[in-house]
Amino acid sequence: MASKAELDKLTALGSDYVGRRLYLLWNPMTGRTNGTTPNFFATITIRPPGIVDKPHRHVSAAMNYIFQGEGRSTVEGKVYEWQSGDLLLTAPGWGVHNHASTGTDPIYELTIQDQPLNIVMESLLWQEDLKKPWSVLGTETGFDTNRAKIAS
Ligand SMILES: [Fe+2]
Repeated sequence: MASKAELDKLTALGSDYVGRRLYLLWNPMTGRTNGTTPNFFATITIRPPGIVDKPHRHVSAAMNYIFQGEGRSTVEGKVYEWQSGDLLLTAPGWGVHNHASTGTDPIYELTIQDQPLNIVMESLLWQEDLKKPWSVLGTETGFDTNRAKIAS
């Protein structure tokens, strides 16, 4: 499992980084579907203070447990505030949503999603940028972070 020290290295990507800051708990037996189990993946995320995700949508469901920090999620225009100790069920099928860290401490969270199940069924519809077409992840090229661009 990713240690806090490893997670904290992701903070160093800086405020220009556009993308998730997480480690996937990958089980090799799941192969290209990148699962922790055949049906689910688990990721450990750090979200530095002041990060507001771009709105996006996907058909996969997410469960998020917040270990530390506070923030808000906006799902189809409705705002949900949360904090350390909360368990969130987010992104009900294809709803536009985003998350934001609102406190002064970084957020540490465990996220479980049904990604591998959707990938193997070729049903993982994902729209990372609402100005661009959606994709079926696992059947076509997905999307990139800007990590290589900001590193140069
Ligand atoms: Fe999402």
